[in-house]
Parts: sequence; structure tokens; C-alpha cells
Amino acid sequence: MDDRNLALEVVRVTEGAALASARLMGRGDRKAADATAVEAMRRAFDHIDVRGTVVIGEGERDEAPMLYIGERVGKGWQNAEDSPRVDIAVDPLEGTNLCATGAPDAISVIAIADDGQFLNAPDTYMEKIAVGPMARGVIDLREGWTWNLQRIAKALGKEVQDVTAIILDRDRHIDLIAEVREAGTRIRLIGDGDVSAAIATCKEETGIDVLFGTGGAPEGVIAAAALRSVGGDMQGRLRFRHDEERKRAYEMGVPDESHIYTLEELAAGNVMFAATGVTEGSFLNGVKFFGGGAKTQSIVMRSKSGTVRVINSIHRFETKPAYSWSTGIE
Ligand code: FBP
Repeated sequence: MDDRNLALEVVRVTEGAALASARLMGRGDRKAADATAVEAMRRAFDHIDVRGTVVIGEGERDEAPMLYIGERVGKGWQNAEDSPRVDIAVDPLEGTNLCATGAPDAISVIAIADDGQFLNAPDTYMEKIAVGPMARGVIDLREGWTWNLQRIAKALGKEVQDVTAIILDRDRHIDLIAEVREAGTRIRLIGDGDVSAAIATCKEETGIDVLFGTGGAPEGVIAAAALRSVGGDMQGRLRFRHDEERKRAYEMGVPDESHIYTLEELAAGNVMFAATGVTEGSFLNGVKFFGGGAKTQSIVMRSKSGTVRVINSIHRFETKPAYSWSTGIE
């Protein structure tokens, strides 16, 4: 995949989804915000010169009208045999509740890799540890949380009490939270959004050192693509809610449910990641509307070069019909 030009193209896809869903911020309707983001992202793909196949998306073909697993996206399928064939992982609105309530850190995300390089994660849960570059190589999901905290603290050159862990605020994390508190580590509990949380471990200014806990498996693969690009680290283990999920996962080729996926097993080869802020966030500004347009902030990262680009865009609805539909303005 020659991803240099593509990197600047794909950001249009997350910008489109972010602009669309941001219009519905705080309306209390997570489904509507998500549906708008999905539709906007799907339409934005028609302008991108790739032959993409969705491998992580909105679900199976019979349950998702757009961006379903296996769907072909990109204008390359229509004519250009030389446009790159890529696998695509998307979450048009990561943090649907965050957008519906206007809470921080809702983002729109896409990750792209060469054919077959993403784990085809079933739609189940994944237990995760994610850290930034300084703690790369020291984490191990087979060990306990305290063991990991001690290793992370040492790698960061600080006391365990000065480490900050970010954890989804869920009942299933009661024991985890108790153990982290017992270790004396600071905790930031979040309502949603563990992709943002994983990326936050790689940005010093967020003050977040480690993500612990169980969230969506597809989100795990998307987060891994981001962490690959910035030198962070992550491990994941699938966690099934019931036998049907287990059966489906085996059909998809999951070898063994106790398997611990490394960062490279989650997202291998050259990967690219782009995200646009929907609501105000710890590492991306949210969409800001002004008379006749809106501003977005996005991040684009490539594992091959390690380059991280922050893109501040000003969209004028008058001259950009492609964004007008996504914001409801025709
Ligand atoms: P949505 O964007 O689909 O609402 O997911 C938000 C999220 O918080 C993810 O970031 C996380 O991986 C997952 O949900 C956790 O799932 P659950 O809400 O079932 O605990």
C-alpha cells in the first residue's frame, strides 16, 4: 500500500462522519448520532481512491445496512485497477453515548492496512492493556494488574502511586478497580470510549499512563492500529459473553479463547490511522460550527514513517456540497 497520499485523503472520511454526528451532539439519541455518522462516512468513501474491504465495521451484512463486514468501499472498485486494495476498520462514531450527552472524547475513526493484516475480531469483548512508547514491552496480560502497574511505573521512572490508569466505569471492573486502588494508583473512570483512552496513553499531555479493562474487541483492533503508528504497546484477550459469540468466533478462525494477542497480531504490517474529534476531547478538539461552516481537528498517523499529523480544517458549506449533506444543509 502506498499510503502517503492516502493518509491525507482518508481524513475526509472521518471529517465527514464527525461533522454529521456533531450536529446531533447532546440530543440524547445515540442511535441517530451513530446512523448519521455511518451514512456520512459511507458516502465520503465514494470520493476516496481505494479498493477497500470493510473488515471491522458496523456488523454483519444482515444486521447493518452500511459499512458491514465484507462491504467494498472506495471509488477504486468502479474503474481503477491500480488503486490500492486495502482492509478497512471503521468506527464512524466511537462513543455514541458521549456524543448523545455532549461528553468529552467522542471521535470518528478509521484504520487501514494491507489485505489480511487486521485481526478479524468478532463482535465481542476484549480484555486490554495499552501503554505509551515508554512502557512498550513491559506489559503482560497473563500477569496481574498490580504486577503490570509496577512494571509500568518502573519504565516511566515514577512511583506506582503517581501512575494514572484509565478504566471504563463498568460493573465488570469492580475487582480491577479495587486492585488498582489498593496499589495506590490514580484512576480516571470513563463512561465510554476506550479507543480514545488507549491513544491517550501515548500523549504525554493527557497524563494517562495505562488503559486497563474490557471493552469492545473491534475497538481493540482499531486502537492497536493507532498504537502501532505511535510506538505504544497493547495486548488483548477475547472475552465472550455467551456460547453463541464463542461459536461465531471459532467460525471466524479464533484459535483459542485464552490466546493473548500482541499489538502486531491485532494490527500487522503497514497501518494507517485517522481520527476526527466529534466532541471536545483530551487529544482532539471537537467540531465547532460557525456561520456557514465548521472547524474540525483530526489526527493522521502512519506506522511506516511514525509521522503524526494534526490537521485543523475549516469547512465552508457553501463551497463544499459534499459536507452540506452531512450536516443537513442542502
Ligand atoms: P459505542 O461507540 O458503540 O457506543 O461504544 C463505546 C464503548 O465505550 C467503546 O469505547 C468500548 O469498547 C465499548 O463501548 C464497551 O462496551 P460496553 O458499553 O458494552 O461496556
